[in-house]
Amino acid sequence: MTEVVHTPRVFSGIQPSGGLTLGNYLGAIKRFVDMQESGVETLYCMVDLHAITVWQDPADLRHNTRELAAGYIAAGLDPTKSILFNQSQVSAHAELGWIFNCVARMGWMKRMTQFKDKAGKNAENASLGLFGYPALMAADILIYHSTHVPVGEDQKQHLELTRDVATKFNHDFGVDFFPITEPVIEGAATRVMSLRDGSKKMSKSDPSDASRINMTDDAETIAKKIRKAKTDPDALPSEADGLKERHEARNLVNIFAALSDQSVDAVLADVGGKQFSEFKPMLVDLAVEKLSPISTEMARLMNDPAEIDRILGEGSNRARTIANPILQKTYDIVGMIRS
Ligand code: TYM
Repeated sequence: MTEVVHTPRVFSGIQPSGGLTLGNYLGAIKRFVDMQESGVETLYCMVDLHAITVWQDPADLRHNTRELAAGYIAAGLDPTKSILFNQSQVSAHAELGWIFNCVARMGWMKRMTQFKDKAGKNAENASLGLFGYPALMAADILIYHSTHVPVGEDQKQHLELTRDVATKFNHDFGVDFFPITEPVIEGAATRVMSLRDGSKKMSKSDPSDASRINMTDDAETIAKKIRKAKTDPDALPSEADGLKERHEARNLVNIFAALSDQSVDAVLADVGGKQFSEFKPMLVDLAVEKLSPISTEMARLMNDPAEIDRILGEGSNRARTIANPILQKTYDIVGMIRS
């Protein structure tokens, strides 16, 4: 069997299941922009089929999908450089997802921590879609023969499963067809934590709005949330080692580093020895400077939903031209008649 070399192609996605948070921005979207600017082919998706694995009000889903698209664009994704689209408009995702439902094993799904977290104590009552979620995610990635997937830390297990699906498919059918995708989990803020509890991930589903910065928050709200963020009474250390047991302090320094495109070491070289009473105002200024223009631009884009829909339609057309031939070849490998 000759080894196929796949040309670099980047894919990632975000669920339109609520507002965007600073975690989504620093862990994902900001990295999407970096990859777009590096010149490789990039596809970024709003994964609406994934969103409905838990209940979504239809009007909210439509709104959140457009708002996510506005967030992508406002943060620097350019629809002429990257392919921006929503998953349900490219039916190849769902079709390959079905095939992967038949490749992936129940035992693999049962081990997924995101399923356990989301299903909670009442797993019997979770949707079948939530259980099979990672197989559809593998399809999102592999339907484009994507080689690299930028994500936050919490998606690592899903990406390992994507590699397992590709390996098993290739092995079962004796082909070297799907690439073994590389997760790209890089930067200072791969896991942004709650502002109220440094041991919990910042999340759009946290009941406390003070726990997160939303990408739609205005300058005053951002400032208030940072001023109120939980910290400890000590001064900041001069080296990263000194942050080990200080979850809240580490989180704020990571956020500062990611927003200012510096390493944690470089930030600490500068702010080591300062009290939070001095550091927090610096973080407020930086966060407002970097985030306010994005929320302003998101609001402007949301005034023209037809233009957003047009961009998603065009992105979907472009995505289909890559996905459909790969789907046809997959059906052929599996033994489906295509007449
Ligand atoms: P989702 O919608 O939960 O989150 C989208 C992206 O944001 C990252 N992220 C964070 N990064 C750092 N700190 C945080 N607190 C934080 N919260 C969220 C996530 O790691 C993710 O990169 N299963 C995916 C969506 C998906 C997908 C895909 C991703 C579906 N198909 C194919 C990549 C490729 C999800 O639930 O992400």
